[in-house]
Amino acid sequence: MVDRGLKYLVSDYQTRTPSKYTADSWAPFAKALTAAADVAGDTSATTSDVAAAKTALMTAAADLEAADEGTFQTITNDTFWNDTSGNPIYSQGGGVFKFGDTYYWYGVHYTGAELYRANPTRKYDGDVRFVSIPVYSSKDLVNWKFENRVATRSTGVGNGANLGGAGWVGRLGVSYNENTGKYVLAVQMWHTGRGGHGVLLLQGDSPTDTFDYGYFQTQITNSPTTGTGDQTVFTDDNGKDYLIFSNREGRSRAFVAKFRESDSLRIEPGVQIGYNSSGREGNAMFKLDGKYYHAASDLHGWNTSVTHVMESTGSNVQGSYTGEYTLAGTEMDYSHVTQTGFFVTVNGTKQNTVIFAGDRWADFAWNGIGYNQWMPVTKTGARPRFHSVSQWQFNATTGEWRVGPQNNYVLNPNFQADRIIVSRLTGWTNFRESGPSSIVTNVNGGANGSRFGLRVGAGQSYAGGVRQQITVPAGTYKLSLFAKTSGSLRAAQITVTDASGNSRTLNVAAASGWTRRELAEIPLSAGTATVTIRAASNNGYLVVDDLGLVKTSADTPPPTGQRYEAETTSAECQGTIDSNHAGFSGSGFCNGNNAAGAFAQFTVNSEAAGTATLGVRFANGSSSGARPANLVVNGSTVGTVSFESTGAWTTWSTKTATVSLNAGSNTIRLDPTTAAGLPNVDSLDVGAATG
Ligand code: GCU
Ligand code: CA
Repeated sequence: MVDRGLKYLVSDYQTRTPSKYTADSWAPFAKALTAAADVAGDTSATTSDVAAAKTALMTAAADLEAADEGTFQTITNDTFWNDTSGNPIYSQGGGVFKFGDTYYWYGVHYTGAELYRANPTRKYDGDVRFVSIPVYSSKDLVNWKFENRVATRSTGVGNGANLGGAGWVGRLGVSYNENTGKYVLAVQMWHTGRGGHGVLLLQGDSPTDTFDYGYFQTQITNSPTTGTGDQTVFTDDNGKDYLIFSNREGRSRAFVAKFRESDSLRIEPGVQIGYNSSGREGNAMFKLDGKYYHAASDLHGWNTSVTHVMESTGSNVQGSYTGEYTLAGTEMDYSHVTQTGFFVTVNGTKQNTVIFAGDRWADFAWNGIGYNQWMPVTKTGARPRFHSVSQWQFNATTGEWRVGPQNNYVLNPNFQADRIIVSRLTGWTNFRESGPSSIVTNVNGGANGSRFGLRVGAGQSYAGGVRQQITVPAGTYKLSLFAKTSGSLRAAQITVTDASGNSRTLNVAAASGWTRRELAEIPLSAGTATVTIRAASNNGYLVVDDLGLVKTSADTPPPTGQRYEAETTSAECQGTIDSNHAGFSGSGFCNGNNAAGAFAQFTVNSEAAGTATLGVRFANGSSSGARPANLVVNGSTVGTVSFESTGAWTTWSTKTATVSLNAGSNTIRLDPTTAAGLPNVDSLDVGAATG
């Protein structure tokens, strides 16, 4: 038989060196490699011999354990990404799949992406002319090497037609079939010469092969129409592959369908796992800590939105699922101004992290720079949480991540998330001190050729603006922005206030054209900081854009006794924030519901991994005694705390515990184990991690 793949895989895997891996994992890999080389050299080997050799080789390669702890690599969003040769990465509506020890990234290259990249100060409506499907490879998920174009305009799609004749090609994924030894790519195609809308299945002998036509399936059983709405490919831990899609017309039904096991060249009947009458797009699946999560965006044509999640209630990927909830962390900037693209789950040696790969390409595009925005998702407590970081560092070996040194802590800093003119901007809260009720809007014509800026003002006397609350680690920061003014302003100022109430203000001098402004050396304590944009005038306007708040001080361990208040946005209280019993710190405390499991949770930042002492400040005025709770750190129960009676609700006391923290973000949850629930919880003190 002719198979281009096994020989290729063998020569690729022969470049691995034993010193980089543990001896225990190297031995079975070396054996599988020798066996695969034998099969590759055997001209009488059958299709199933070849497939078995590929499967065994990739399985052993996937099980290779690095001898070291890996390194942190930097992911910078809001930029155009390049491959390791310095050429643009054109990869949209695709997916990252791990075959053996290597990640492969497939997506679509459209002409509109080139145009937007060359001149990102306008949009390119509907320019989805298909160029090719490139494949890139990486070991660390950050440095991507261009490998090949698995499909081009001349790739055949059956009946003498080719991809160049398609009206639409996009939304794809790749899976490996253990029976045929083929890598099967499933992509949406609309081709009038092939009967309209459907799923095109191409196949190759290796992950980076030039793929050939396999099948074109217009109808998936149980879907009300031909084709799919959006679709991605999900491969479960057991190697089984599924197409995740919504129906094309209306997109209200979420489906999970198996690939036919024999060859992956048919999509089996869809199983409906959810329904939303408004329709959903960007359907994608991830699995974390044994649960399946189906995620999708609003339906409005590649627009950005919060991310809607349904989670499996059992261990079956085809159902059943909970109703939808909003993925925490996606609300304030519409998932970092993206639509759900796909997910990569990294089960690291230290922690499991999911990468949310967001697509930003509506209208090619003009809603921020870069098509690929990747953000980490971690499980905090019962649910996953999205971390909207503009820059972060990731270790693909350990699974650990941390905020990058150039991260911009402001969310929706370019006012692009809404993408239409609004009077209340996503992530920003209006406030008004005097004057008309509406003094805030985004306006066309942002700084540096961007689409939108934020305008505060009115043709009459007013004072007010917008503010945003963000969570920052302690440090010294620099605020930067572009601003312009018109008319005469009594006040035009951007103020940053930290969790302790200290603030610094940048007063914007009058300037009719976009001018860059900066305020450095802003000390901020850890916790919730507030960025306020305020103007006051009789008839003038302040327009701002491109806000940046970047930490300029080197990372230092947090001071001992770092305090996190239960009432801040980085904390979660399953109950109410009250202030009726004196003696609390900050502006209130968490009065948890009187129920087992009604938790209070803090998100704390530790500059280093190590052991830290926690102090929980609480009051328990109940006459019926202690209110015990589990102490859950990063999702694992590490101990219990018995919150004994303090005699009165106004008598506050502190309980301590010692826990291990990761570098970066950690969640600390107090999860009550009895029906009485928690005591009132005021704050959490976190000492510096040591060791
Ligand atoms: C009282 C008290 C609350 C407290 C509650 C409880 O209502 O005012 O602050 O949380 O009891 O028993 O949990
Ligand atoms: Ca209570």
